[in-house]
Amino acid sequence: ECTFNAGKTHCSPTTCVCDGYVRLFLRGRPVTMHVPDQQKERYSLDQKVALPDHKLKLQWVYGYRGRDCRSNLYLLPTGEIVYFNASVVVLYNTEEQQQRHYLGHNDDVKCLSVHPDMVTIATGQVAGNSKDGKLLAPHVRVWDSVSLNTLHVLGAGVFDRAVTCVAFSKSNGGTFLCAVDDANDHILSVWNWQKEKQLAEVKCSNDSVLAAVFHPMDTNLIVTCGKSHINFWTMEGNTLTKRQGLFEKHEKPKYVLCVAFAENGDAITGDSSGNLYIWAKGGTRISQVVSGAHEGGIFSVCVLKDGTVVSGGGKDRKVVLWDHSYRKKAEMEVAESFGPVRALAEGKPGELFVGTTKNAIIRAAFPDTLTPIVQGHTDELWGLDVHPTMEQFVTCSQDKQVHLWDAHSHQPLWSKTIEDPGRSAGFHPSGAVLAVGTMTGKWLVLDTDTRDLVSMHTDGNEIISNVKYSPDGNFLAVASHDNFVYIYAVTENGRKYSRVGKCTGHSSFVTHVDWSTDSHYLVTNSGDYEILFWEASSGKHVTNTDTVRNLEWATSSCTLSFNTFGIWPDGADGTDVNAVCRSHDRSLLASADDFGKVHLFSFPCSQPRAPSHEYSGHSSHVTNVAFLHDDSCLLSAGGKDTSILQWVVA
Ligand SMILES: *[C@@H]1O[C@H](CO)[C@@H](O)[C@H](O)[C@H]1NC(C)=O
Ligand SMILES: *[C@@H]1O[C@H](CO)[C@@H](O)[C@H](O)[C@H]1NC(C)=O
Repeated sequence: ECTFNAGKTHCSPTTCVCDGYVRLFLRGRPVTMHVPDQQKERYSLDQKVALPDHKLKLQWVYGYRGRDCRSNLYLLPTGEIVYFNASVVVLYNTEEQQQRHYLGHNDDVKCLSVHPDMVTIATGQVAGNSKDGKLLAPHVRVWDSVSLNTLHVLGAGVFDRAVTCVAFSKSNGGTFLCAVDDANDHILSVWNWQKEKQLAEVKCSNDSVLAAVFHPMDTNLIVTCGKSHINFWTMEGNTLTKRQGLFEKHEKPKYVLCVAFAENGDAITGDSSGNLYIWAKGGTRISQVVSGAHEGGIFSVCVLKDGTVVSGGGKDRKVVLWDHSYRKKAEMEVAESFGPVRALAEGKPGELFVGTTKNAIIRAAFPDTLTPIVQGHTDELWGLDVHPTMEQFVTCSQDKQVHLWDAHSHQPLWSKTIEDPGRSAGFHPSGAVLAVGTMTGKWLVLDTDTRDLVSMHTDGNEIISNVKYSPDGNFLAVASHDNFVYIYAVTENGRKYSRVGKCTGHSSFVTHVDWSTDSHYLVTNSGDYEILFWEASSGKHVTNTDTVRNLEWATSSCTLSFNTFGIWPDGADGTDVNAVCRSHDRSLLASADDFGKVHLFSFPCSQPRAPSHEYSGHSSHVTNVAFLHDDSCLLSAGGKDTSILQWVVA
């Protein structure tokens, strides 16, 4: 009998070893895993497992947060553009194709400001939750973009919800920093950041505040704008006094979306009605109007070094260049697939960087050069698989996009829009085709070279959690949230499919699937922690454990198995690890958890609570992990943060 009994010595707090099997208890539920014959004699719970000899280092972030953040893209003198995705601040040298990363934040970054010294950076983050349920306070981090050292941390315990605007002062050597907390009162605070001392704070507005910036020539003047307002704040001692901007006879916009300053000190605002208003320096009145500058909202205004002005449109997706007297000089349009303009930054002479609300960054030059340099998914991401022999991987997400990525150039080789939200992906072992499972029971096969549709099928009408080819390429397992696994015979190098079996027996949705190396069997996990074995050619449930206990598995993606159960922390509820992946050399196991962490374990991972290296970067649950075919890198996919992180295995 294999249960917890007083006095039993062969149990750890979560696991018991019994005759030929191990029993793990997840939330009190027993999960039985068979020990291979070879290990039966030796196996005990007291064996020590070492940390893996390898570590991960973040190499690439595939993503930019343009959807809901503003003024978050700048060029630094190092030639790097700086922006953020999830909790990572990215410094991307687009010429050398190199990224560096500032990893000091522990949850979503929402705003960024570059100091007038062009080296020091301030970034603000949201309130987060740690693994043990503790609140991680929102705060601002001031750091050095050359050394990546954190210089100061401001406002932990002072900010309430999320720091959504941050800006350095300009004229006094950048001594001050202002920040807006996205709490109900939208508190505007001013800090001496080097002394980590708050100088002043004030309730800014009951309505949302979208921008807060210091006047470039007057250290004591701050401009904030947002829903139906623009405010000019004067700081004297520790008080901030408000003067409201007056729209007078001019159309009052629903939102003042952005503000920038002309060379002469005038403020320029862009608003939701598509108008540019010029506010004469020091005053609260509109001195000039460019009405209908854009059709729809103006999300960004940027004053270039030569004093000309560029504005970026929402609805019209246009980037417009204005001369010193606000006469239109040129315009270009961002493609619909990249979405409206979110942020504009001046690049090298004649060049601009354009961030979009569909999370792309484009390198642009008038009259019509627009080259995407950062692209990504825009909705929850789960589907990830690596090419069997090349430095490529595929991702699919609920945004209905499938991207095939080159892991070396970090650019998509192709992208394809499908009809249904995507959920899972798998390459045929030949690499010639790849399968995509959707949220609706539909699954399709695409040609890897041409991205043409090769085949399309429907099994049930629920989420297809896995599409996985057998190692010999002759079968495809399609695992569904309808509790079944559908098995297809595959011929013509992945071009023909015919159903040969339906695995019936799980009493909950199927979560993970692995094939045996001989392609004869498969093993599955389910939402209620079952581990079942199946015969591939028929889909029959295999109940004789002697048939399966010594099988070698081609992959280890089941989170519940003898070789992987060490990933489970104490008190795990069985849903907090979403995916595991074994390296191809069988020495490492990576896991993806609900707390935004990627873990690296030694493989096999057959001791309770095995030790691991832990990595942060994602800001929401990590949904999937995969090692590149040569184990040089690990890829991890974020669910809600929809970012893809590429880690070097070193
Ligand atoms: C990260 O990047 C992806 C891809 O560009 C984007 O869709 C997502 O919104 C970003 N997420 C966060 C939390 O920054
Ligand atoms: C915010 O709302 C409260 C109550 O609704 C009101 O007393 C206060 O004056 C408002 N504050 C501002 C800055 O508009």
